[in-house]
Amino acid sequence: MARNRYFEDEALTYEFSASSIKKALRYALPHRKTLITIIVLMLIFSFLALVPPVINRYIIDYVIRTKDGVWGFAAVQTLIMLLTAMGCIFAADIIFASFRTLFMAKVGHSIVHDIRRDAFVHLQKLGFDYYDSRPAGKILVRLTNYIDELAGVFSSVIVNLIVEGSKVILILVWLFVLEWRLALVVMIAVIPMSFLIAVLRKHLTRRFRLTRNKVSNRTAYIAESIQGAPITKAFNRAKLNTEIYGELCDKSNRAFIHAIRLNELFFPTLDGFFYLGLMMVYGAALFFSASAAGLSLTLGGIIAFISYMGMFSAPLNSITATLQQLTSATSNLERVFEVVETPPSVFDKPDAYPLPPIDGHIVYQNVTFAYEKGTPVLQDFNLDIPAGKMIALVGPTGGGKTTVVNLITRFYDPQAGRVLIDGHDVSGVSLFSLRGQIGVMMQDSFIFAGTILDNIRYARPDATEAECIAAAKSVFADAFIERLPNGYRTVTAEGGQGLSSGEKQLLSLARVVLVNPKILILDEATSSVDTATEELVKNALDVILKGRTSFVIAHRLSTIKKADCILFIKDKGIAEAGTHEALMAKKGLYYNLVTNE
Ligand SMILES: Nc1ncnc2c1ncn2[C@@H]1O[C@H](COP(=O)(O)OP(=O)(O)O)[C@@H](O)[C@H]1O
Ligand SMILES: [Mg+2]
Repeated sequence: MARNRYFEDEALTYEFSASSIKKALRYALPHRKTLITIIVLMLIFSFLALVPPVINRYIIDYVIRTKDGVWGFAAVQTLIMLLTAMGCIFAADIIFASFRTLFMAKVGHSIVHDIRRDAFVHLQKLGFDYYDSRPAGKILVRLTNYIDELAGVFSSVIVNLIVEGSKVILILVWLFVLEWRLALVVMIAVIPMSFLIAVLRKHLTRRFRLTRNKVSNRTAYIAESIQGAPITKAFNRAKLNTEIYGELCDKSNRAFIHAIRLNELFFPTLDGFFYLGLMMVYGAALFFSASAAGLSLTLGGIIAFISYMGMFSAPLNSITATLQQLTSATSNLERVFEVVETPPSVFDKPDAYPLPPIDGHIVYQNVTFAYEKGTPVLQDFNLDIPAGKMIALVGPTGGGKTTVVNLITRFYDPQAGRVLIDGHDVSGVSLFSLRGQIGVMMQDSFIFAGTILDNIRYARPDATEAECIAAAKSVFADAFIERLPNGYRTVTAEGGQGLSSGEKQLLSLARVVLVNPKILILDEATSSVDTATEELVKNALDVILKGRTSFVIAHRLSTIKKADCILFIKDKGIAEAGTHEALMAKKGLYYNLVTNE
């Protein structure tokens, strides 16, 4: 079976810890007033929940006296009073519970809303290296499924833990008050039960984390399959890919079943311990009542004691359930925070200043850059481009042309050396001011879902329709746009399905031109455009490039011929530089490239 990186689990080194919960609690901080109100109210109600057994006990011991009971008005009156009190407690509990659910849902969702926003904001700050190093699908899963699941957790977990925890303590205290010797017997069952729960929980954490990993692998593979659908079809990979997907599904299912199987042990274990406790308490009650000291509890007292024991296992159940929820939530949180906490490789320095309006004089000073440590793509690279010049970059594929231009926009930062624009080190200015003055058209031009107009004004949402049309005309994109069913208002799908590569490139070119930047980077901007259109665009470029410093990476000789300087990029640096005429006369690498075309 073909294996690929979707079979690799994400390695997150840190164990389940309070730290991700702590970070999540930071998000709860703004809601502390609501949370505290709910918790206080819930504590009052959990205290009130302890009252009904006391009323029961009173009714049994004093109202319905089994032997010498007397039917009388007083007894009926007391009974009605006590039952009314009990009814009120139940009613208040029901009303409060529905309010609590509502408020907790609100708080939960608003916490998750904040996490979701922060994660998205951060995702946009992360450098290209982050996206290079993992499948888009895995990032997607984190920001959608994982965060969605958190909403449920935040609506209940925080409050549940506090309230149920205090309930357990209250009941325990109450048991000791009722009959301390029997309470000690109960503890004999509770202590080993707690240990067992702790052990089970540890294993569950591990199994749930594994499940998340497998689910994430599976989803990421779906994401890739959608993006690669045409290639999949073209290369008859459907059957093989289905097998790969099947295996990923099996893995996630197996991991889930593995986790659930352990999960199912929880409740039987708790019930088992409850019956064990019950047996021990009855045994002890018998023993004490026969002993000299006797049993201080009345019949009603014993019934109350047993019902407290029953109430004791409910919050314990709920705590373990909550802890499980929390456990699987922490493995979600871990992944979400891993995104939020990955430091962006390219960022504004604390003392970053806005780049003032530029002329476009670009200097590379001893620049060394590597995508992966140890294998530099550029080594000690030097270049000085006066403002307004057109530079063409040529050379073998993988030679480093794209890399050279990526350093101007700071898509990556060099490991050594500097890139200067008008004397400003680009690493010292704010990214926003830098990128705002550079027009980039990358190798693959992405088309967003929207209309043709939306796509042209992507970088300048305030641009008027007339400006957009002018931009499209200037790069000869209007010819094909006019032919579309709705012209400029034709709706484009994400990725530009329905447009040819050449059309997508023309559209992206219009997008760049609309920005009217001082520095223009065209990375194989017209490589997919047909020859006739290319001829037109070539003339347009003369106009577009005027008054701007430009980097043009192109295969076609006609485009690069007019450059003020042609650089042949190879072996980590500039192998040849000069005008077309000079390089042709030199009869070197460039000459070979041109004559072999
Ligand atoms: N994101 C990346 N991560 C790792 N290596 C990369 C990345 N982008 C490019 N490279 C490598 O850097 C070298 C130069 O690539 P590039 O600048 O894209 O070349 P060109 O644009 O001249 O075809 C190539 O060997 C390529 O494999
Ligand atoms: Mg390239």
